[in-house]
Amino acid sequence: MKQKILVCGNLPASVLDRLREVFEVEGNFEDLPLKRARLLESVGDKEGLMSMITDMVDEEVLSRAPRLRMIANMAVGYNNVDVKAATARKIPVTNTPDVLTETTADLAFTLILSVARRVAEGDRMVREGRFQFWAPFLFLGTEVTGKTLGIIGMGRIGKAVARRAAGFDMRILYHNRDRIDAAEEKSLRAEYTDMKTLLASSDFVSIHVPLAENTKHLIGMAELSLMKPAAFLINTSRGPVVDEPALVSALQDGVLAGAGLDVYENEPSLAPGLAGLANTVLLPHVGSATLETRMKMAMMATDNLIAGLTGRKPPNLVNPEVWK
Ligand code: GLV
Repeated sequence: MKQKILVCGNLPASVLDRLREVFEVEGNFEDLPLKRARLLESVGDKEGLMSMITDMVDEEVLSRAPRLRMIANMAVGYNNVDVKAATARKIPVTNTPDVLTETTADLAFTLILSVARRVAEGDRMVREGRFQFWAPFLFLGTEVTGKTLGIIGMGRIGKAVARRAAGFDMRILYHNRDRIDAAEEKSLRAEYTDMKTLLASSDFVSIHVPLAENTKHLIGMAELSLMKPAAFLINTSRGPVVDEPALVSALQDGVLAGAGLDVYENEPSLAPGLAGLANTVLLPHVGSATLETRMKMAMMATDNLIAGLTGRKPPNLVNPEVWK
C-alpha cells in the first residue's frame, strides 16, 4: 500500500503526477492557503506533509499526526514549522535552499530600483491620467549607482544581492552573525560593519536574515532612527523582522525616505497607514515567484519527501540530528 501524503498548496499536475507515482496524494486544488481545520483533520492518517509558508505546522498539528515521518516545506524559510517540536518527535524537516537565491536577489534589487526611481508611483500617475507634462525638476527620484548598500544577513541571498550591487558600482557594507571569510569579502567588495554603522552609513538597507526568536523586530524604531533621512529600507525576508507599525511612523515622520517591502508582519494584512504611503513599493510576497524557480522548489520539496519516506537521507534536512 502506498504511503499517504498531504500537499498543502496547489501544485502543477506534473509535480503531483510525480508524487502520485510513489504516494497516495491528498492535494489542495485551490489557490488559497489550506484551511487550518482541514490541515488538522487531514494530517491524521498521513506519513508525509508538503507544507507551504502559510501552513503553521506546530505542536497542535504534530499532535494530530501520529504517523507523520516527513515534513517538506516548500520554501527556504521554515519559521512556519516548529522544528523543535518536529525534532522531538524525530520527524525530519526539509526546506528548498539555493534554487531561489538569484530570484529573490532579483526581487530585492527590483525593490531598490523601484523605490528609488518611484516606479509604482509613476505607473499610478500615468494610468490615472495625471501625466500631463514633462518638467525638468518634477517627479525626481534618487540615484542608485554609486550609493552605499547595507546588507543585513550575508547568507546566500545577501551575497547574491551584493553581486548585483557591484554592477551598480555601489559601496557594499554588511552585517552578519559571523563575518564571512576575507577572500569572499574581497570578491564581493563587501565591508563588514556593526549594525549601527551599517544603518547610519547606508543609502539602502536590505534585509536577508531568517525569522527566528533573535531576529524578530531586529529593525524597530531605535534602528530606523539611525538611518539617514534620505535612506530606503528593503525587506524581502520575513515581515516580523521589522516592527511594521514603527516603520509606518518612521516613514510618516520622514525618519527615512521610503521602503520597498515584499513581506509584512501579519500577512496578508498591512499595518495601519502603510498602504497610504506614496514613498513605499509594496509587493505580495513574491520573492521566489517565477515559474522556473517555483517549479524547482516544488521538485526539490518532492525529492526531499520521496527520499525521506523511502529511507534515504533527504538532501535538504534542516534538523540533521534526527537522521542517524
Ligand atoms: C519564501 O518566502 C521562502 O522562504 O522560500
